[in-house]
Amino acid sequence: MNHATHEITPPAVHWHRRHLLDLERLSAEEVTTLLDVADWLRVKTDGCRTKLSALAGRTSANLFFENSTRTRTSFSLAARRLGADTVEFSASVSSLSKGESFVDTARNIEAMNVDVVVVRHQTPGTPHLLAEQLECAVLNAGDGAHEHPTQGLLDILTIRQRRPSLQGLTVALVGDIAHSRTARSNIWGLKKLGAHVIVCGPSTLVSRRWEEVGVEVAHNLDEILPRCDVLNLLRIQFERQYTRPFPSVREYALLYAMNRRRMERAKDDILIMAPGPINRGVEITTDVADGPHSVILDQVTNGLAVRMAALWLVSHGENATRELLCQVC
Ligand code: CP
Repeated sequence: MNHATHEITPPAVHWHRRHLLDLERLSAEEVTTLLDVADWLRVKTDGCRTKLSALAGRTSANLFFENSTRTRTSFSLAARRLGADTVEFSASVSSLSKGESFVDTARNIEAMNVDVVVVRHQTPGTPHLLAEQLECAVLNAGDGAHEHPTQGLLDILTIRQRRPSLQGLTVALVGDIAHSRTARSNIWGLKKLGAHVIVCGPSTLVSRRWEEVGVEVAHNLDEILPRCDVLNLLRIQFERQYTRPFPSVREYALLYAMNRRRMERAKDDILIMAPGPINRGVEITTDVADGPHSVILDQVTNGLAVRMAALWLVSHGENATRELLCQVC
């Protein structure tokens, strides 16, 4: 499916924020604006291939205190596709080792006339702290197990490109819900747009408390599978756990891996998603990950469009309008 070339109407822009810190506190209109602007910029850059000058003269800095392949690369590319300069900060070779604090580090980077800071950190709430301490815009690229808003948005955009509406769609998030910032951002974003969300996995990784916010909780993938329109398969985040939440990886795979046998019981048009990195043979088998229902690499491509939209919106804040968007494209 080629989504890159069709013409679309310039979207309405409902945006008055300086930062993008989470999806929980956004309105449905703001989530829709992020998705619509992403679609608009994707089309205007020929599928995120060509450059615009929408953020010419501005600078975006990537402050990553945790490893990343997709998020870091796509934030850099997204900024450059919009004509901005980029700064790549690496904690391991920085003056943090000489005792400089996290906030002082960020304030010194900002002092080099940086307009947007993109931050990933293992501690939940770190982007919110920076938003209080800095003058520039702050984008959350993943804070501990709290949220990963642009991942939630790119997942939802990938579904929205293939289904007429999110309203009433059944989306299951399968795996390590307890430690997944991707799960949280998906839950808030999907629910705002009217989807029915199921969280499914071992009881040690899936809390019944999600029922309190209208999310269905399940522990048996085979029972829920026939009514799912979308499966988003999440990695077990061993790095955030002190003890194993199940007896063995083999046992987890038997109960929760999406494999050929389970695909036979799924809807004919089911979408198979994963935020990456994937662990082949654990949450997903190779034939499913690379099979015809998988949209995993399309999610990655959509990450560019979503991050262009996020950078453009926070750069303009309350001045972001449809007219300005049309002028720069
Ligand atoms: N999905 C995701 O956040 O991937 P990275 O950790 O590689 O950025």
